[in-house]
Amino acid sequence: MKHVIVITGIGGMGIACARRMGAGYKLLLCDFNEKQLSNASAELTNNGYNVTTVKLDVSDKESVNAVAKQAAMMGEIHAVIHTAGLSPTMADAERILNVNLIGTARMLEVFEAYISPGTVGIFISSSSGYLSGSLTAEQEKKLAILSADELVEYVPSLELNDPNDAYPVSKKANRLQVAAASVKWGKKGGRVMSISPGVHSTPMGKQEQEAHSFMKYMIENTPAGRVGTAEDIAATVEFVVSPAGNFLSGSDILVDGGVVAFLQTSGGR
Ligand SMILES: NC(=O)c1ccc[n+]([C@@H]2O[C@H](COP(=O)([O-])OP(=O)(O)OC[C@H]3O[C@@H](n4cnc5c(N)ncnc54)[C@H](O)[C@@H]3O)[C@@H](O)[C@H]2O)c1
Repeated sequence: MKHVIVITGIGGMGIACARRMGAGYKLLLCDFNEKQLSNASAELTNNGYNVTTVKLDVSDKESVNAVAKQAAMMGEIHAVIHTAGLSPTMADAERILNVNLIGTARMLEVFEAYISPGTVGIFISSSSGYLSGSLTAEQEKKLAILSADELVEYVPSLELNDPNDAYPVSKKANRLQVAAASVKWGKKGGRVMSISPGVHSTPMGKQEQEAHSFMKYMIENTPAGRVGTAEDIAATVEFVVSPAGNFLSGSDILVDGGVVAFLQTSGGR
């Protein structure tokens, strides 16, 4: 049995995944925010979970390397659930691209060295990646296959200076990166998937709703008739990681209550 579940980002979705899937496993919780880590650790430990925490900056090569080594020393890795990310109101475009886009590439390539047959990676993208159409086919290919070090050189050439442009591109890139990485992970017996949330009532989701009236429009027009929860994402992560999901690899699951379908069909009319 594999014993370790690594979760990056212990905000709304990360802690929901820890609560739902962590019992019986060694949880390695990683976040940039140390207060968030200690609060999560206290709550989960108090409820019987086996928790180790470590500070991580996914945009920092050495930090990602250190976390992956620590995870492997704790035992065989069952799942890597990467939720760490920044939204448009949280940082400037450069930081969003470093964390969301280059950080994801780094996580995928560093953890590839530590997976074994049966390891599953889940990388959280966003429905916004379905709504941004500004990349050429050549740019998409580069974002899919370049290494993290190569992306550090390449990404500035995209000239994404507005956080509202950088965010959807970073999230579209995540889907492409996961598809490309699934081929390498598959050679080692691992699977990797992305999941794209819609609008969810987490600290990040609430902050974006306050800043953008378009988010309110999205919630009001979500075919499912409600805002998403962190638990909606955790339930999907649990399914993909479980044996029932074991033919899923290299693709994306859009968990948005149907809002992209609305925007791509009746929403624009
Ligand atoms: N909430 C939504 O409505 C929504 C919608 C679409 C996509 N998403 C995506 O889902 C993921 C999780 O979002 P959430 O709603 O749980 O957000 P959240 O803000 O509640 O949690 C994100 C966590 O990532 C951590 N983090 C930020 N930068 C980091 C870094 N450099 N290194 C390590 N950790 C870092 C934060 O400290 C935070 O704890 C994100 O990737 C986000 O882009 C969220």
